[in-house]
Amino acid sequence: MKYTLCIGMTPAVQELREFKSFTLGEVNRSPAIHRSVAGKGPNVARVLRQVGGRPLLLGFVGSEFITDNLRREGVAERMIRTKEPTRVCTTLMDHATGTITELVEEAKMPTASEWRQFFATFRRCLPQACYVVIAGALMPGASPEIYRKIARCGVPVIIDSQREPLLGVLEFKPFIVKLNVHELENTLGKVEIIAGARELLKRGAQNVIVTHGAKGAWLVSGTGVWQFRPPRITPVNPIGSGDAVTAGICRALERGENLPEAVRFGMACGAANALTLIAGTVQLPDVRRLLVQVRLRALKNL
Ligand SMILES: Nc1ncnc2c1ncn2[C@@H]1O[C@H](COP(=O)(O)OP(=O)(O)OP(=O)(O)O)[C@@H](O)[C@H]1O
Ligand SMILES: [Mg+2]
Repeated sequence: MKYTLCIGMTPAVQELREFKSFTLGEVNRSPAIHRSVAGKGPNVARVLRQVGGRPLLLGFVGSEFITDNLRREGVAERMIRTKEPTRVCTTLMDHATGTITELVEEAKMPTASEWRQFFATFRRCLPQACYVVIAGALMPGASPEIYRKIARCGVPVIIDSQREPLLGVLEFKPFIVKLNVHELENTLGKVEIIAGARELLKRGAQNVIVTHGAKGAWLVSGTGVWQFRPPRITPVNPIGSGDAVTAGICRALERGENLPEAVRFGMACGAANALTLIAGTVQLPDVRRLLVQVRLRALKNL
């Protein structure tokens, strides 16, 4: 049985600290701290597993916390062990104002030998991969050439990234480019959503999915445009919803569904992720209940 190869270059140990109220410059006491595995690639792999899919996570790891938790969650991995410990990212949740603040530690550059091990493992894993998912940014200082090297693997690629690292892979005709509205504008400048998606098609993408949080998402391909409205929910923590969308799409594609139906399933996963406190976590009953509430509308054909 083939797996979906999820590339997670920059995992993180995520600490979510809850506060009754949080004031900058004051002493703030947190009654609850939750630690989990985060990072775009790991989030995709974790949600894919939660909805019954077959992820294999590839990347770099320098903390047993990450590998222990992936094992506990049943996520298969071939992560390269690094000398540097894995970064720690912190979320501050202020219940008084409903504000979420992110403190992001940048990922460190792996050594030359760690990179060699990564690409050797990547090549070994490819024959059993049905899709390759590239999610998120590279670590600071890494060349966009790395994503290009991955994208020319010959296996259908699903990429969630922006700017140069995204633009650089388009010539290899990635199967799906998925990004949010802000990332679309960061990549192409101020642009209307469907026009921006068409521009990415023109540059090589086979299909483009643009998400816009509670406002929904658009799928633009060579054959048509579809608009998706997510279910109405009261979000608890929407961080990682984009990764959950990617995971849901992969799961539905693994099952052989067509792309609009796959995006519908992805939207249900995105909304389900927003209902949980920990990013990259969905409850399957939520996904099933929300799936029927996703509205799909085919817009004019191209
Ligand atoms: N408040 C919400 N209500 C309903 N659905 C939501 C909400 N927030 C997110 N979603 C779902 O998740 C999808 C992705 O959300 P969004 O566009 O915020 O992704 P993102 O910015 O890439 O997130 P991240 O990068 O943190 O994973 C949306 O298209 C929608 O299906
Ligand atoms: Mg995103």
